[in-house]
Amino acid sequence: MKLTVVGGGSTYTPELIDGIAGRRSTLDVDEIVLVDPDAHRLEVVGEFSARLLAHAGHPAVVRTTGDLERGVDGAAAVLLQLRVGGQTARRSDETFPHRCGCVGQETTGAGGLAKALRTVPLVLDIADRVRAVAGEDTWIVDFTNPVGIVTRALLNRGHRAVGLCNVAIHLQRTFAGLLGVDHEHLRLDHVGLNHLSWERGVRVTGADGTVTDRLPELIEHHADAVAEHLDMPVDWLRRFGMVPSYYLKYYYSHDEVVEQQRTSMPRADVVTEVENELLKVYQDEDVVTKPEQLSQRGGAFYSEAAVQLVHALTGGGPAEEHVVNVRNDGTLPFLPDDAVIEVPSTVDGTGAEPLPVEPVEPMLAGLIAHVTAYENLALEAALHGGRERVANALLAHPLIGQYRQADLLADALIHENRDLLPWA
Ligand code: G6P
Ligand code: MN
Repeated sequence: MKLTVVGGGSTYTPELIDGIAGRRSTLDVDEIVLVDPDAHRLEVVGEFSARLLAHAGHPAVVRTTGDLERGVDGAAAVLLQLRVGGQTARRSDETFPHRCGCVGQETTGAGGLAKALRTVPLVLDIADRVRAVAGEDTWIVDFTNPVGIVTRALLNRGHRAVGLCNVAIHLQRTFAGLLGVDHEHLRLDHVGLNHLSWERGVRVTGADGTVTDRLPELIEHHADAVAEHLDMPVDWLRRFGMVPSYYLKYYYSHDEVVEQQRTSMPRADVVTEVENELLKVYQDEDVVTKPEQLSQRGGAFYSEAAVQLVHALTGGGPAEEHVVNVRNDGTLPFLPDDAVIEVPSTVDGTGAEPLPVEPVEPMLAGLIAHVTAYENLALEAALHGGRERVANALLAHPLIGQYRQADLLADALIHENRDLLPWA
């Protein structure tokens, strides 16, 4: 099988390659093509990826190209992991919202909207070209943020796409470690949107096949460890008996996070340093395994999640359960059908189908519905442009929600991104 990675020059790519190398029995890949406009990165990451595979005894060949059409021709699946404007644009997303006392984050709030506006038109263009060259059957797996909005754009346009994030698999592995169980036997009752999710159950299958929800036990005995891991107050976990994702701190601790952000280095600058270091290591011909520095990036277990998902979509096997971004289609009855939600789904060669979800508590449902409405307006702004659409999306965001801020941030966003927005 041929697998193509768009944004293959990313320093994350070796994480993915390592996952492919370690799961040879699961995923039968014989050709990996990395597509990227940055020729230097492509060469460095491509050569290192080939060394990783060879060292692991994996027979797949790695090819690199700047030509999307050539890269995707014949691919069974295309992974999208690109970042329009690189870390420079991310730095802007992480700082301009501070002007209005709002959180600066690349997928949440005004920064997330800026990223959506830059990204959606490009991803749609790429997906249309993938379909034209590789055909209707090729799967598009989107890891490109903001995953919820980008996936909604792809599905509305009729693409064969699934959205992927590593938040759920990361929590699955963390909880399995704390409970001392094999992660293969642990499933999460994960509900919400991308980067706006909660774990409401931790289903562990015992040796005799019985399934037990061990979330109460996790909270009773490991609340401190979980709270520290998520940088959240431990009382919250105890009070509500569920585990919010790391991204909920931008809502529940919004003002404190803004205070911290005002005096600390933007994540974009930290990542730039890690990336420079990684690119040096990748060029060292003696290095043939995934370097330790890669663990300083936020994408832990991304490779595992991607390999499992691509296998489920293309392997021809029975349906598997994965947490992915899919069309709501009535699963959360308080959202429109075409909203994209992040929930456990059955995945096989026909695609991903959300599993039924228990009724959602009002405290979660309110925020989910609010952010879904924002995502709808964000997508309108990304597709059609214009200051008014940008300001409307900002006004609809629960972390902004006031005229003055929405107008100020709309102007700042457009100004900061003027070279990267097709309509500005
Ligand atoms: C997590 C999120 C991704 C995000 C990444 C950022 O993995 O799920 O959506 O891109 O963190 O990591 P970084 O190392 O770039 O801060
Ligand atoms: Mn994510």
